[in-house]
Amino acid sequence: MRAAIMFIPLFAGLVACMPMKDAVSTPTGADDYADMCATCHGPAGRGDGEVARDLGVAAPDLTQLAALNGGVFPKAQVMSQIYGYARDGHGGSDMPAFGELLEGETVLVDTGDGIATPTPLRLVQLAEYLEALGR
Ligand code: HEC
Repeated sequence: MRAAIMFIPLFAGLVACMPMKDAVSTPTGADDYADMCATCHGPAGRGDGEVARDLGVAAPDLTQLAALNGGVFPKAQVMSQIYGYARDGHGGSDMPAFGELLEGETVLVDTGDGIATPTPLRLVQLAEYLEALGR
C-alpha cells in the first residue's frame, strides 16, 4: 500500500516532464543569450558580465552595435561574427563553446543581398535578440 502511494507522485512527475522536454528543444534567443553570452556581455548586453570582469577582458557593449553603425543594426555582420565565434571560439578561448548554435533547424534569411540563405535558427534568434537589446 505504501509503495503504491509513493509511486503515484513519481509517475505524475515523469508525465509532467515530457512536454517540457519538447518545449526546450529550440531555446529562444533570450535563453541562448542568458546561457552563453550574459556572463561576459552582461545581462542586458552592456559589457558588464562577471566573467569578463574576472578575466580582465573588455566585452563590448552589445547595445551600441546599431548606434556605432549609423543607427542601423548590422545584422549580417553580427550573425557572421557569432557564426565565426561558434565555429572557432570566442572571448579569448579557443574552445568552440557555441558550436551547438549552428546545429538544428535553419531558416531562410535575406541579409540584404537579395539572396535567401539557409541560416541556423538559433543564430538568427540571437542576432534579433541583440538588436532588441539595443533599442
Ligand atoms: C568569455 C567571454 C565572452 C562570452 C561568453 C561571449 N563573448 Fe562576445 N565578446 C567577448 C569579447 C572579449 C569580445 C571582443 C573581442 C572579440 O571580438 O573577441 C566580444 C565581441 C562580441 C561581438 C562583437 C562586438 C562588436 O563590437 O563588434 C559580438 C556580436 C559578440 N561578442 C556576441 C556574443 C554572443 C552572441 C555571445 C553568446 C553566444 C557572446 N558574445 C559570448 C567576450 C565574450
